[in-house]
Amino acid sequence: MQSSSTELHDKFHEIFGRTGTSARTKVRTIRAPGRVNLIGDHTDYNDGFVLPMAIEPEVLLLCRARGDGAVRLASTVYPRELVEFSLQKKIERGEPAWSNYSRGVGAELIAAGIPLVGMDALIANTLPVGGGLSSSAAVEIATGLGLLTLAGAELDSTRLALLCQKAEHEYAHVPCGIMDQTIVSAGRAGHAMLLDCRDNAKTFVKLNPQELRVVIVNSMVRHELSGGEYAQRRRQCNEGVEVLRQRDPSVKALRDVTMEQVDAVRASLSEVVYRRCRHVVGENTRTTDAAVALAEQRYERCGELMVQSHHSLRDDYEVSCPELDFLADEAMKVKGVYGARMTGGGFGGCIVALTQPRAVEALSAHLHKTYTAKFGRQPSVLVTTATAGASVVE
Ligand code: GLA
Repeated sequence: MQSSSTELHDKFHEIFGRTGTSARTKVRTIRAPGRVNLIGDHTDYNDGFVLPMAIEPEVLLLCRARGDGAVRLASTVYPRELVEFSLQKKIERGEPAWSNYSRGVGAELIAAGIPLVGMDALIANTLPVGGGLSSSAAVEIATGLGLLTLAGAELDSTRLALLCQKAEHEYAHVPCGIMDQTIVSAGRAGHAMLLDCRDNAKTFVKLNPQELRVVIVNSMVRHELSGGEYAQRRRQCNEGVEVLRQRDPSVKALRDVTMEQVDAVRASLSEVVYRRCRHVVGENTRTTDAAVALAEQRYERCGELMVQSHHSLRDDYEVSCPELDFLADEAMKVKGVYGARMTGGGFGGCIVALTQPRAVEALSAHLHKTYTAKFGRQPSVLVTTATAGASVVE
C-alpha cells in the first residue's frame, strides 16, 4: 500500500531535513502512473501499433529544489540507499542500478539545453518493481517532471517521453521502444491509447466502466529486460528488415510489410527470424483491429484478438513463460472473460484480462486456486481503471 501523503512528507523531511517553506523550497509532489498494455507487444520498436492504458498503481516523487546543483535521491523501495550526483558535471551511470533511470533523465534534460536546478527527491512506489507494469518508465517520467517543475520549465509530453526513452537506452542499457514512456506521460483517464509508434500519433479509445473491467494478474515471476533476450528480439527483427529491404528498398521497419511480403522472402530468412516477423506483422493488424472493436463495443472480438496475441507471443516470439501461459489459459475458462494475454515485455510479469464486471470475483478466485495449486505461489490480482498520465499533484 502507498503511504499517506503526510507519512511521505514526514519521511522526506526525515531524510532531507527541513529548510523553510518559501516557494523555492516548497516540497512538490509528482505522480506518474504505471501502464498495462491491452494488446500490441513487441511492436513499438518496429514502428508499429500498441494499445496501452495508464493504471492506478503509481510512482510518487516528492521533490524540493537545491541551490547547489546536486541531486540527492532516496527510494521507499530501497530504504537504505541514498544516491547523490551533480548536474554541474557530466552525469555517469552508477550504483545502485535503480538510480540510473534518474541519472539518465537528468543528463538528457541537460543535453536538450534545459537549465536545471538541483533536487532532493524521495521516490515512493505502489508499482511492483520488475512486475512488467512500467515502474521504470514511471520513475523516469516522474524524475523528468520533477526536475522540470523545480526549474520552472515545461516540455510537451511526447518530447519528455522520447527523452526518457533515450535515458533508458543509455543509462539503464535497455533498448526499449516508446510505448511505456508515452502512455505514462500522456495517458488519458477513462481511455486506452492507440499509439502509432512511428509518428507518435495518439487515438484515444473510451473504455465503458459499466460494461468492462481490466484485470491485471501478476504471476510474481520477476521479469528482467536488461537480460539480453529483449535486445536479441530487436536484432532478429532487424535481420528480417534487411532481407525485406533487398526486395523493396522503401521498407524501413516491419511496420511497412504485409504477411505476403514476409512469405515471399521466407526462403531467405532463418526459421526463427521468419516467426519473429510473423508475430510483429500479425500483432500490428490485431492491435489496430482491437482498437476498432473496443471502440465499437465488440468485446468478444477484442477478446479473441487478445488470445491470438498471446499465442503469437508464446509460439512465434517466444517471450512468454509457463506461469503466464497458465494464467492466460485458465482465465479464459471463466465465464464473462472476453480475452486474456501476457502483457509487456514478457519472461514473467503480468497477464491482462478484459472481462465483464460480474466476472471479476470468479476470475480472481479461480486464478488464486489453480495458480497456487500448480506453482506454489499466490498471484496478485488487481482490478484497475484507466487513469491520466503523469502530473504535478501539488
Ligand atoms: C517493454 C518495453 C516496451 C515494449 C514492451 C513490449 O515494456 O519497455 O518498449 O517493447 O516491452 O511490447
